[in-house]
Amino acid sequence: MRSTLAPAAAKLALLGGTPVGKVTYPKFPTFTDRAIERAADMLRQGKLFGLGRKHVPEIGEAEGVISRYHGNRHVLATSSGHAALQSALAGLEICCGDEVITTPYTWGASISCILHQNAIPVFVDIERETGLIDPAQIEAAITPRTKAILAVHLFGQPANLKRLRAIADKHKLMLIEDGSQAHGAEIDGTRVGTVGDAAGFSCMGGKVLATTESGYMVTPHERVYWKGAMIGQHMGRSTDEGMPDDLKPYLDSLVYTYRVAPFNAVLLTEQFAKLDAELAERRRHADLLRRHLAGAQYLKLPNYASGVKPSYHLMSFTFDSDAAGISRDTFAAAVQAEGLRAVGYVPSVISDWKRLHWQDYRGPRVNWLSALEAAKVDYRNQALPNARWRVDHALETGFDMVAPNEPMIARMAEIILKVEANVDALRDHERTAGPAAPAVRK
Ligand SMILES: Cc1ncc(COP(=O)(O)O)c(C=O)c1O
Repeated sequence: MRSTLAPAAAKLALLGGTPVGKVTYPKFPTFTDRAIERAADMLRQGKLFGLGRKHVPEIGEAEGVISRYHGNRHVLATSSGHAALQSALAGLEICCGDEVITTPYTWGASISCILHQNAIPVFVDIERETGLIDPAQIEAAITPRTKAILAVHLFGQPANLKRLRAIADKHKLMLIEDGSQAHGAEIDGTRVGTVGDAAGFSCMGGKVLATTESGYMVTPHERVYWKGAMIGQHMGRSTDEGMPDDLKPYLDSLVYTYRVAPFNAVLLTEQFAKLDAELAERRRHADLLRRHLAGAQYLKLPNYASGVKPSYHLMSFTFDSDAAGISRDTFAAAVQAEGLRAVGYVPSVISDWKRLHWQDYRGPRVNWLSALEAAKVDYRNQALPNARWRVDHALETGFDMVAPNEPMIARMAEIILKVEANVDALRDHERTAGPAAPAVRK
């Protein structure tokens, strides 16, 4: 079905015309009365800290719910997504100079979990259309020190788990998934978090599955669960069933303190109860937006194979600046002036970030630089052409459409089509005014 919206040729707001109107989102996340009552009850009862399942049965309840959602994997609820990811690496014993092949185009915590283990991120390029790690580039980056591949399901799009698993198995590497932006995303009927040797998810308040601040690790390996738990939880967890005897001598309170708060444990349980219904709404709205934008020439949504079911944490577009003859930034400025907030989510490729450049680092001391220096890894000026292209051509918008909201979807499309219809005027504007300031997340 093609869009019924007509491109509006009216004058752009950026050039003095009337804006289409602000795209507003319904309140998100929402919590049921039952969730709020249960969370408050944790405080009333004085159940404040999350030592383990025996101490706080609600933690066991949440981990059980999450486990069932992820194919009965072992689950460790944590204080954040970063905590979950670092627990995953620790559980897999990835540390101390081990190389982890990953993406330079993500949120920093996908990488800091590697750095905080004193392991070495090795960046390979991404696919332009989706921004996901390109499996075709991975094998060339494997060295005798490579221990794992860490794939990120960015913006809610599932990475190509079948190919990633096959590469990992062929080279006897571990596969780690960062599902922080992609709870419930699927590829060919397989949910993210059910293929890797371990996965970490964020459940901070802005995510598809939102609490206040929490996360969880999932793994099919019981020992990985216990070793992951030991890095961030102290002896409290050892009172739970099943800790292997040979690990017990190493259990102490030399930990990062990644416990989940009990009120967040009950929020995890309750939020999972409505996750699939919310995902169905996100997907319905995404399909509608795609139909409205079928005639768009310059701003493109990724084309997904039929088995790909993203969770649409953000709506991610790429802008064809060659065809339009203007920069992404000028296009974004025009879209924003009409009422739609849209920026490039990744402001620069992570390999360019100064806190990785031990060679000329002048900032506050950080502990991972010595590991990077020992490995003599030089991140300065890495090529990564697709990641660099996306930094200049991607546009992301929020997409927390979990209640019927067709008018706002229509407005989003109307804005985009109006700006597209006025690209000639924007070309003139850019020629005289110069390109707009970079439209990137600050
Ligand atoms: C891709 C990705 N990985 C990891 C994280 C870290 O999660 P948290 O902020 O809960 O530590 C986030 C979210 O912030 C994320 O978007």
